Amino acid sequence: MIDSNIPAHVAIIMDGNGRWAKERGKKRSEGHLEGSKTLKKISQHILSKGVKQLSVFAFSTENFKRDKEEVDYLMNLIIKYFKKEADTFNKNNIKVVISGRKDNLRDDVIEAINYIQNYTKQNTGGILNICLNYGGSEEIIDASKKIAKLYKEDKIDLNTLNKESFYKYLYNNLKPIDLMIRTSGELRVSNFMLYQMAYSEFYFTDKYFPDFDEGEFDKAIDEYLKRTRRFGGV
Ligand code: FPP
Repeated sequence: MIDSNIPAHVAIIMDGNGRWAKERGKKRSEGHLEGSKTLKKISQHILSKGVKQLSVFAFSTENFKRDKEEVDYLMNLIIKYFKKEADTFNKNNIKVVISGRKDNLRDDVIEAINYIQNYTKQNTGGILNICLNYGGSEEIIDASKKIAKLYKEDKIDLNTLNKESFYKYLYNNLKPIDLMIRTSGELRVSNFMLYQMAYSEFYFTDKYFPDFDEGEFDKAIDEYLKRTRRFGGV
């Protein structure tokens, strides 16, 4: 039985791949590879628990400042992941959507994004939102630009704009985030989904992302279910 208080939208900042690898004398790339395996396992687990939407931070706009070798490795890993796991997403009825800016991304990355989004678009069992070349402030700016353009073309009545309708102009029309999890002990939001996180509960764990397994997620849910959410009321 699925508890009706289960969060509808969970977000994860998947942090600590590099430290996980370093502590094992491995290369950072091996940490990212292990992180991608963890993502596969836990996304299925999380969406099977009644969570409808899962957002994950795969690559920030700032991550382009890393070594070219690491950026290339991550981009290639993401392409491979989209191609290799597409059938698994369909088997599990999961729709994959990508959030982020398309500029700066290589053509083969954009091709892989289009492929996975098209391949899984008919699925209705849950949404996996992968944030790639993503920034929360940038998302709000891009939404504002979309609205300004519609206004200029006389296609929007600004009186209809409110906290709820603004979601339509974000990269994907998702729900507000109920629970935000960050792994690896860092206590920051790092420009992740700022608009959607206005009232979310935060859960921080020292576990590095590759070690964040199904049991660790269940601990986060147990903690969340114990909290009373007031949404600014008393
Ligand atoms: C942060 O850890 C993690 C990232 C910047 C990349 C996240 C990517 C994955 C989990 C796997 C690939 C994703 C997909 C969608 C296949 P870090 O490298 O900053 O770790 P550190 O802080 O310990 O150095």
